[in-house]
Amino acid sequence: MKNNVNRQWVLANHPTGMVTTADFNQVDTEITPPGDGEILVKVTHVAFEPAMRGWIAEGDSYVKGVQIGEVMRAQTVGEVIESNNADYKPGDRVSGFFGWQEYATVNPVGGMFPTQVLPDAVTAEMALSALGITGLTAWGGLLDIGQPKEGDMVVVSGAAGATGNIAGQIAKIKGCKVIGIAGGPEKCQWLVDELGFDGAIDYKEGDVSKKLKELCPDGINVFFDNVGGEILEAALNNLAQFAKVVICGGITGYNEEELPSGPRNYMNLVLTSSNMEGFLLGQFGPKLGQAAAELGQWVAEGKLKYTVDVQEGFENVPQTFLRLFEGKNLGKQLCKIA
Ligand SMILES: NC(=O)c1ccc[n+]([C@@H]2O[C@H](COP(=O)([O-])OP(=O)(O)OC[C@H]3O[C@@H](n4cnc5c(N)ncnc54)[C@H](OP(=O)(O)O)[C@@H]3O)[C@@H](O)[C@H]2O)c1
Repeated sequence: MKNNVNRQWVLANHPTGMVTTADFNQVDTEITPPGDGEILVKVTHVAFEPAMRGWIAEGDSYVKGVQIGEVMRAQTVGEVIESNNADYKPGDRVSGFFGWQEYATVNPVGGMFPTQVLPDAVTAEMALSALGITGLTAWGGLLDIGQPKEGDMVVVSGAAGATGNIAGQIAKIKGCKVIGIAGGPEKCQWLVDELGFDGAIDYKEGDVSKKLKELCPDGINVFFDNVGGEILEAALNNLAQFAKVVICGGITGYNEEELPSGPRNYMNLVLTSSNMEGFLLGQFGPKLGQAAAELGQWVAEGKLKYTVDVQEGFENVPQTFLRLFEGKNLGKQLCKIA
């Protein structure tokens, strides 16, 4: 705790178009002592999600938007250094939404994701990837919404990103054939060689729809989409009968000032009697307990690998966020700040 100073990154403006580092300002404030029931946390790891682009747009979306001058919201891990709450003690490692700042004074109870004390065996990297929001999203989207059966052909877009790589691995655990779509030969090689995907398509090279036709001759049973746009259209061209299209996200549109018209070939949903369904993690409610237990067991058994891309330094936090939109991250994007 240097001179009681708390460095923070706050929102400078609501970006239109591609977010830049100039959309955030670094400010120094004083550390706020914890009040009744509160804890003071030294933040060690910050996690990044494409959805944060929506949180800083003008107005509210599925969550309240971040206001100009407010500390940028983010999922994080840190260490409790002072506590006025009997359930948290100094030295506890905790995960919670502490934001882009070095110290957070918070009421740890309440909210959709209350502050959780991490067991000794759970590292910050695990808590912010396979065992956190990312893993739970992949579990809920794939298993609760997609409901693949053993032997099904599952295709995942954004497959080398945080959620995509976990969704693909869960599909493999469930006995499916899995094809990943990702940007660049290294990411595609990694999916096949390291994660055991049955195939991968580099969407930056050639015709994705044609490649899907080659790799999925009987059609796609479950498409787990993180991306939207032309990749969604390519998948819709190749659906099996009674397929399930799971819309987890649509990163192609997050930095666009104006969105293009919807999938031109959505009639393929009709022609294949298929179902397209979106979801938000929060809707899985009590099922998330089962999800957390299964994810933890798969990680412990070595069936589910978690991959994190860790940048370093508080000053690099905004640049690290931009890596998501530049396709620079492999697995979950984190920044270690202490
Ligand atoms: N529904 C929910 O409750 C929920 C919860 C969490 C996350 N999500 C969504 O899940 C998706 C994945 O999130 P994540 O945290 O796992 O992020 P991520 O996949 O790690 O995000 C970044 C990756 O997206 C790809 N990408 C970036 N810009 C792209 C573009 N214009 N076109 C195609 N691909 C692009 C890049 O990979 P390439 O190099 O392969 O292009 C990049 O590495 C996001 O859309 C997110 O909003 C939804």
